[in-house]
Amino acid sequence: MTSSQSRDSLLRTDLFGRTLTSPLILASGILGTTKSLLKRLGEIGAGAVTIKSISVAPRAGHPNPTVLSFGPGMINAVGYSNPGLKKACEEYADLSDVACPVIGSLIGTKAEEFAQVAAAFSLLDFAAIEIPISCPHTPGYGKLARQDTPEAVLEILSIVSGETDKPLFIKVPAAAQNLSELVDASDQGGAAGITAVNTIGPGMLINIDARRPYLGFGIGGVSGPALKPLAVSATYAINEQAPHLPIIGTGGVMNGRDAIELIMAGATGVGMGTAVLDRGIEAFAVIADEMAEWMRDNDISNLNEIRGAAHAK
Ligand SMILES: Cc1cc2nc3c(=O)[nH]c(=O)nc-3n(C[C@H](O)[C@H](O)[C@H](O)COP(=O)(O)O)c2cc1C
Repeated sequence: MTSSQSRDSLLRTDLFGRTLTSPLILASGILGTTKSLLKRLGEIGAGAVTIKSISVAPRAGHPNPTVLSFGPGMINAVGYSNPGLKKACEEYADLSDVACPVIGSLIGTKAEEFAQVAAAFSLLDFAAIEIPISCPHTPGYGKLARQDTPEAVLEILSIVSGETDKPLFIKVPAAAQNLSELVDASDQGGAAGITAVNTIGPGMLINIDARRPYLGFGIGGVSGPALKPLAVSATYAINEQAPHLPIIGTGGVMNGRDAIELIMAGATGVGMGTAVLDRGIEAFAVIADEMAEWMRDNDISNLNEIRGAAHAK
């Protein structure tokens, strides 16, 4: 009797101890900059929303242009522009009118910074905290600071979990050669789950008329459809290795079929960034409808019936 089931009952998803109306989650860095936008996303039916990554001090980010669309995706070098911890705590002080869970995103260059942001986030109404160790284009952070090693993951998790009891998600790089070690370290360090993946990079596109790279910073991270196979394979591999760790599969989800694909790879939540920049915030409603329609057509009444379905049994 799935044909009459409502979208919400088809898509209901349990993640970080909360029940989400849909697995579709706003990825970090996309519109998550103000509370009013988070509120709007909650109203439109996002399952959860992730805020822009926050550092202790405000960051201007990289010079313009910072984002460029190309055929199969986008390349960006935003460079973690953000208002800093003090302003962010003011902005997100009261999240009671955001209809869906909010995920904090925490970045730092050294131990004290991770500790300071974690302690402040602990007092906010975030349902979980995501820690990207994987940005491919911002000096001092992520891959450019070698935060994408198992040793760094263990150290960061130990610092952050010393300051907060909130569920922690490690956001891993795309196409990581050491993915299984990063997953082991996340698990041993007490992470509640993994977000897979960040943009892949460094990438570069050159404006041949100007004879210069398009992006102000030169290199950037690639997102959107070009990234999807890497997000699917990372999600599949993590689920195979650590089936008990929930995954927020992220990368190239542009429609309902893409979201179902990540769930069949083993994802519990499905992050969306480029689709929201491309299709607007309505993407959350449209893609949820597309998922529900596919489920009704295929007699699936609950996402648990297809989670991990692509794995050889
Ligand atoms: C313009 C832009 C800004 C981003 N900023 C952040 C960020 O601040 N923190 C972060 O963890 N990821 C950031 N990301 C990566 C996304 O959260 C996501 O992992 C990536 O874009 C892949 O998903 P997508 O293909 O659905 O866009 C950013 C991506 C884009 C396109």
